[in-house]
Amino acid sequence: MAPHFISKVIVSIVVLLASFIFTPISCSRVFTSPKTYSDVDLIEFALNLEYLEAEFFLYGSLGHGLDEVAPELAEGGPPPIGAKLAILGPLVKDIIFQFGIQEVGHLRAIKKTVRGFPRPLLDLSKSSFANVMDSAFGEPLYPPFDPYANEINFLIASYVIPYVGLTGYVGANPLLQNATSRRLVAGLLGVESGQDAVLRALLYERQALRVRPYGVSVAEFTNRISWLRNKLGKEGIKDEGLVDMNSSYPGNILAGDEYSLSYPRTPEEILRIVYGSGNESVPGGFYPHGADGHIASSYLPST
Ligand SMILES: *[C@@H]1O[C@H](CO)[C@@H](O)[C@H](O)[C@H]1NC(C)=O
Ligand SMILES: *[C@@H]1O[C@H](CO)[C@@H](O)[C@H](O)[C@H]1NC(C)=O
Ligand SMILES: *[C@@H]1O[C@H](CO)[C@@H](O)[C@H](O)[C@H]1NC(C)=O
Repeated sequence: MAPHFISKVIVSIVVLLASFIFTPISCSRVFTSPKTYSDVDLIEFALNLEYLEAEFFLYGSLGHGLDEVAPELAEGGPPPIGAKLAILGPLVKDIIFQFGIQEVGHLRAIKKTVRGFPRPLLDLSKSSFANVMDSAFGEPLYPPFDPYANEINFLIASYVIPYVGLTGYVGANPLLQNATSRRLVAGLLGVESGQDAVLRALLYERQALRVRPYGVSVAEFTNRISWLRNKLGKEGIKDEGLVDMNSSYPGNILAGDEYSLSYPRTPEEILRIVYGSGNESVPGGFYPHGADGHIASSYLPST
């Protein structure tokens, strides 16, 4: 944590110096004010990630998703591409099933508060996750990473998403105007954060395990994924993998800043990450046609 803090201080000093040296124009680019969004927009935005998590966790643990469990919530949106039952042991299967049911609750809670939209097209195929891992490692893994092949792969794949939702809720909270919205987002944040903690604890326990056939440790996988999210988000360090227990003290079973506060992310940062493109205007990754709702649509080329 100390090196992070020092590098943040150095960055702040450099930014401060730069703002003296350059014109006020570069100043205003350094200190951009966040866009303002309505409560409805911010809450609807969250549906995108909740749909993804619901389908991934339900399919992973049951072999089917919202269309069987709660078809009314899909509202006729297309079924997810490539989602399937994962090979899991009884404990992890039970935990992932519970996460799936929690996401169904989240979808209901959001849709009770705002109108929302139908399930967007989600790409949860093997190759979608394999692309994430290839980007994270900066080279193709052979054979391509398969999230559904075994328990450790599924846990690593699960590390990819709820944390992004968590940072989104932390980022959205101060922007919300009314108490109903803040109550809802606090409730969603609490459970997303709990899911992330459970996943991190399961991965922490297995951090030295070498993932077959790559020979790469679980800790290394999480570090690479976190590095990728930081890179795609383009707003600095907001993500940390499980740094090797032997090389850091204390460890980081939970992610947080130098005050151990959860990191915030804006909807734009989240889109850059979940599209895998680093650009909120270039859909792809888990959302081949882009995410839905007013915020995400405002970045998509009008058709
Ligand atoms: C409060 O925000 C919710 C969205 O969370 C919205 O549906 C509701 O109309 C807002 N209430 C007021 C009084 O603005
Ligand atoms: C930490 O060190 C112990 C003992 O040297 C070793 O067994 C373990 O695999 C190491 N952990 C990692 C994550 O490398
Ligand atoms: C993002 O993509 C849009 C549309 O292709 C492009 O106009 C814009 O320059 C890109 N932004 C960045 C930062 O690359």
